Amino acid sequence: MQDDRFVMSGYRDEDRESEISLRPKNLREYIGQETVKENLNIYIKAALQRRDALDHMLLYGPPGLGKTTLATIVAAEMGQNIRVTSGPAIDRPGDLASILTNLNAGDILFIDEIHRLSRAVEEVLYPAMEDFALDIMIGKGPTARSMRLDLPRFTLVGATTRAGQLSAPLRDRFGMVFRLELYSPEELAQIVKRSSSILGMPAEEEGIFEIARRSRGTPRIANRMLKRVRDYAQVKANGKITRLVANEGLNLLEVDELGLDKVDRNVLSTMIDKFSGGPVGLDTLAAATGEDALTIEDVYEPYLLQLGFIQRTPRGRVATAAAYEHLGKIPPVQESPSDSVQVTFFDEDQ
Ligand code: ADE
Repeated sequence: MQDDRFVMSGYRDEDRESEISLRPKNLREYIGQETVKENLNIYIKAALQRRDALDHMLLYGPPGLGKTTLATIVAAEMGQNIRVTSGPAIDRPGDLASILTNLNAGDILFIDEIHRLSRAVEEVLYPAMEDFALDIMIGKGPTARSMRLDLPRFTLVGATTRAGQLSAPLRDRFGMVFRLELYSPEELAQIVKRSSSILGMPAEEEGIFEIARRSRGTPRIANRMLKRVRDYAQVKANGKITRLVANEGLNLLEVDELGLDKVDRNVLSTMIDKFSGGPVGLDTLAAATGEDALTIEDVYEPYLLQLGFIQRTPRGRVATAAAYEHLGKIPPVQESPSDSVQVTFFDEDQ
């Protein structure tokens, strides 16, 4: 999905170039996701000691959090090559068969957006993951027979924004499943600091933190914002990223002081103004805002949930008092149990 909005965290060409140089090369350089790193460290060491391939791994979480980067790091730490592809790029079972037969022992096969593989392609993946085997049909009709080819021991690293959409048989074949979380402003500040020093940009702590605070928990957005602020600093100031320069540069991008853009604010104000704060179902909200339901769920909602601006309930999404306050609206008065009338029944015998 291609989109010009700033917060859409899909890849753009400029990201591709710069992320390659800004990308951490090993686990030590990788900031944040502490639990994932701790686990990976152990499993990588163990596999190296056994001289074995790493077990298949599923990475899931919102876009822009570094799933591809982690896969590349896993390959580097294992001292192996990585082959990168994606669910939509693997059209037919034969495409996957040709990728698999060209792998070498120990290789990492990274499949981004793995939830978009077709069922027919998934069927090829099951025996490949489980038995390192490829079942192919020879001939047609009544004389057709199946033949099993051995594959090298490889490691599949799958990435998805929506683990729930993966079929159960595929999900069950991953020996490790890691959920990537949105980054804290402090972690993002470390990432922005690292990136600005790699790119040779003079930046003050406060300027760095301003970018971190507004990048909605997402390193890809933080690095993109850093580059726009660099442009602003170069043209409008003396090139140095101060708090004021970062602030003005980011205001130009129409993201507010928490990193919310027009779409976030539209989602929140629609919930509040049209649905009295909710609960409102995702599809209804999508129709009322004119946004795609999956985009709301994958791109906008995670950050609004992290900020505590919305809650997910079984009956739909609800805007919290914090969301009302952020938009300058008055939250409805909460009815607390003590406000409600207490009815007491007396036992007639007493
Ligand atoms: N650049 C993008 N994501 C990063 C991370 N998690 N750590 C360090 N640099 C990064």
